[in-house]
Amino acid sequence: MDPRGHWQKVYVTRKATEVSWYQASAALSLSLIRRVAPERSAAIIDVGGGASTLVDGLLADGYDRVNVLDVSGAALALASTRVGAAAARVTWLEANILETSLAAHAYDVWHDRAVFHFLTDVGDRRRYVLRAVPRGYPARL
Ligand SMILES: C[S@@+](CC[C@H](N)C(=O)[O-])C[C@H]1O[C@@H](n2cnc3c(N)ncnc32)[C@H](O)[C@@H]1O
Repeated sequence: MDPRGHWQKVYVTRKATEVSWYQASAALSLSLIRRVAPERSAAIIDVGGGASTLVDGLLADGYDRVNVLDVSGAALALASTRVGAAAARVTWLEANILETSLAAHAYDVWHDRAVFHFLTDVGDRRRYVLRAVPRGYPARL
């Protein structure tokens, strides 16, 4: 399956508020992030963030190193349009997490809501974990 084609179609044909995973506030994620990374200088990446409202909450909280990665540029456009001028404070990464190269040790918080669980192939899960876990750390799947 071509993940980009699939997800682009989802985001251009459905309103962000109509998808089953929509949440007006990413309250649980925000409270977990505040707990593990109280300093607002923490580098946070939302992998497969799509059009999630998590970025709105992080910006409102004062986090200033927010990254949103998604395979769908349409999803990122929805989120960046929604947050308005504050979009300039976010690094938007249009990429397939299974193929992109992210700098090791670049992020203090790796957030993923409803992306990893789509990976039904063990090879894909390994490729994902290799990107999430800094080199040198043991990672088993
Ligand atoms: C169920 S949605 C969840 C979106 C968001 N995390 C949320 O909580 O609203 C899954 C998201 O993962 C993205 N996605 C799926 N496979 C991906 C991949 N291989 N690389 C990057 N993003 C991916 C999709 O474009 C979609 O935005």
